[in-house]
Amino acid sequence: MIEGPYHKRNNEDVIRMARTFDEYHTCFRNFVSKNPERIRASLDRGTLAYPLEMYRDRELDMLGSKRSSRSFSYGPEEGDIKVREKIAEVENIKHRTNYSADNVAIIPGAWGGLEFALQEVLNFRRGKSEGRVAVIGPTLYQMFYTPIEHFGMDIEAYDFTKLDDAHRPESIDELAEVFDSNPRAIVVTNSNNPDGTYFNSNILKEVIEKAGEKGIYVLLDEIQNCFPSDGNGLNYGPWIQVPNVIRLDSPSKRYALSDCRVGWMIGKPEILFGHTNGEVHVNRIEGAVGRMSGIMGNAPRVANNLLIHLLKNELNCLSNGKQPFAEYSEQLRAKRDFVISQLETMPRVEAIHVPESCVNVTTRIDSHKTDLELSQDLMQGGLLLMPASGYGYNPEDSTLRITFAEREQRLREGMDILKKYLSE
Ligand SMILES: Cc1ncc(COP(=O)(O)O)c(C=O)c1O
Repeated sequence: MIEGPYHKRNNEDVIRMARTFDEYHTCFRNFVSKNPERIRASLDRGTLAYPLEMYRDRELDMLGSKRSSRSFSYGPEEGDIKVREKIAEVENIKHRTNYSADNVAIIPGAWGGLEFALQEVLNFRRGKSEGRVAVIGPTLYQMFYTPIEHFGMDIEAYDFTKLDDAHRPESIDELAEVFDSNPRAIVVTNSNNPDGTYFNSNILKEVIEKAGEKGIYVLLDEIQNCFPSDGNGLNYGPWIQVPNVIRLDSPSKRYALSDCRVGWMIGKPEILFGHTNGEVHVNRIEGAVGRMSGIMGNAPRVANNLLIHLLKNELNCLSNGKQPFAEYSEQLRAKRDFVISQLETMPRVEAIHVPESCVNVTTRIDSHKTDLELSQDLMQGGLLLMPASGYGYNPEDSTLRITFAEREQRLREGMDILKKYLSE
């Protein structure tokens, strides 16, 4: 066979090259941190320099015109230091923890971040991963497609949707099977999707302790922790900051910024970063950050600036005891109550799962149709409702998720369509 005009490489070649590249990056990173003013020209980047004259001052502010000594083209792959520090600061006030920027990495949204965290804890390498993942549901199964189908991970889910009034484990004994199956990681969505029910914090603490003793990681997806009703919340304490816990969040829900595709992972540096000469250190090929190197580095500047702005607002609110976006939250609560009060007047509504947080009300309909069939019927009538079997419910439980973060008029129309359909 005639060889083509290219070098043929095997796996080892490619890995060696990636390591060389990484070594170079580690080298300049160390140099720049020790010699902050020394670099005068970065002629090693495959990107254009910022064409500053193309922008007006306001746009430059938005893009983050001030650069740090590590703001070279793609930016630091673990995320902007200021954003990471601010996240740690906010979390420490909320939970009395002691996080630093070393416990925080920026991720491309909570969904992607969860996949990268799973890859890391299951040591996914060369198409193989070690151990199983237990998911305590109901939760978003769509998110586990790639881990199962592309990464070949074994995932088992435990859906707490059987009883109307217990959509979470009520004691650690109910999780005996989870521990017996000895997973490598347990995933908890706190509060869960679609019901917005918080994991009882005492039980979570026990789960984390028991998991810690057995060398099991606990991954907490906290994105549904938005608009909690009075007295509800994550209710963590310093106990949440232990080596086997990895937390994921993003401003997608709380701040309606899903298009920014940005979020954060909080965990021990050994999971977030790689090792260089036996020391934990950011690098481009290891740790969760190394796994994200194809989407390195950093979030877009606009997203970073927005995050800083929002986190500062949260800090202000925390210090003066106010809720961020209190006015908006009130409107949302009124919408939630409107949906619940409407459902209460409707025939064939068998159960209403009132959320403790988030922007959904889940309801079970008395029907011989599956949730998907109901959704399809309602679609014909002009109403879109999410079938809840995508999250862990049985399809024949005919459970639908109503997201109430919609304009008032639309919400009224939607409820009218649902009422008419159920009255037929
Ligand atoms: C439980 C849960 N995790 C993650 C996501 C996605 O988060 P992101 O938009 O930050 O990727 C969602 C979105 O619906 C969600 O409900």
